[in-house]
Amino acid sequence: MSDAVSDIALGLEKLKARFGQLLEESSDELSLRNARAEFMGKKGELTALLRGMGNVPAQSRREVGEQVNRAREDLEAAFQARLDALLSAAKRADLEAPPFDLSLPARPIRRGHRHPVMLVRDEVLSIFRSLGFEIAWGPEVEFETNNFKKLAFPEDHPATDMQDTFWVNVKGAPPDVRMLMRTHTSPVQVREMSTHKPPLALVSGGAVYRRDDDVTHSPMFHQVEGFYVARDVSFAELKGVLTQFIHRLYGEGVPVRFRPSYFPFVEPGAEADVGCVFCSPEDGTRASCRVCKSTGWLEVLGCGMIHPEVLRHCRLDPEIYSGFAFGLGIERIAMLRYGIPDIRVLFENDPRFLSQF
Ligand code: DAH
Repeated sequence: MSDAVSDIALGLEKLKARFGQLLEESSDELSLRNARAEFMGKKGELTALLRGMGNVPAQSRREVGEQVNRAREDLEAAFQARLDALLSAAKRADLEAPPFDLSLPARPIRRGHRHPVMLVRDEVLSIFRSLGFEIAWGPEVEFETNNFKKLAFPEDHPATDMQDTFWVNVKGAPPDVRMLMRTHTSPVQVREMSTHKPPLALVSGGAVYRRDDDVTHSPMFHQVEGFYVARDVSFAELKGVLTQFIHRLYGEGVPVRFRPSYFPFVEPGAEADVGCVFCSPEDGTRASCRVCKSTGWLEVLGCGMIHPEVLRHCRLDPEIYSGFAFGLGIERIAMLRYGIPDIRVLFENDPRFLSQF
């Protein structure tokens, strides 16, 4: 036998032995496949060994070639056997592992819940529903005229300033049709009174927008608006309905007062206050009450008799119809109710806050 032939024969034996050893040491499929590539791949050890074929005399080539093929088959078979063994061991381990305990109670799915502002809004709306009001709806992007002019705001009223209002550019709108994020829910009055015939008793709740941002003001907040228009509605009805509302919201016995105030769309206009629920004059703590600033009263809502000009803007004859209207901020009620000192936490969506409701 020529040297080249015996070199190859010896080389193949050694290679098989080392490959066998490496397979034994490989304990997972990946390292097994790496071992295979290292020995049998294009740049592997077997290829390197076959470079010696050039020195094999012509008459021995056939025999050496057969040896090499047999060796390759042996390597492949050893690889496959080891792989099968590993895979079936893994399967056995899986089958023998302790089964999933299907009787374990599932982790509870945590249900979401309503936002405190929505809780208060719905409570307020449902009190008015129980007093005979129906629910109406209005858009948050509103015509300037519905928000201001038809509510009898004078042309140069400060509320219409660029600084106070978010104006909205509507593509393709005529230059005289301006739109904004409504600054209050009162335009719902205009929409409803312009499209329906009295008697009307409606409440509406939703988001409103102003350029305000501090501990008690947020650029987006919520209001409830309501109004009653019919024949011969008087201030007495306003007081009766709103006192009843405040009693249902804050408790039957609480003191309620109405004091004159100004809003362009009502005449006369008033604000309703409830006796401070955080201090009481008897025990003398009122002097230092920070919630009512020691006045003993908390402002609840704005209200008044709907201005004749507003009725006319809605094509209702003020000689025939009269009515009262009111509006209130929901966040303020929620803050008082739950003792929330800073309005901003209501809109930060921090679960540590929200999960307390
Ligand atoms: N729209 C007023 C505001 O945002 C609140 C208000 C006051 C509404 C008096 C009314 C009302 O309907 O009669 O401050």
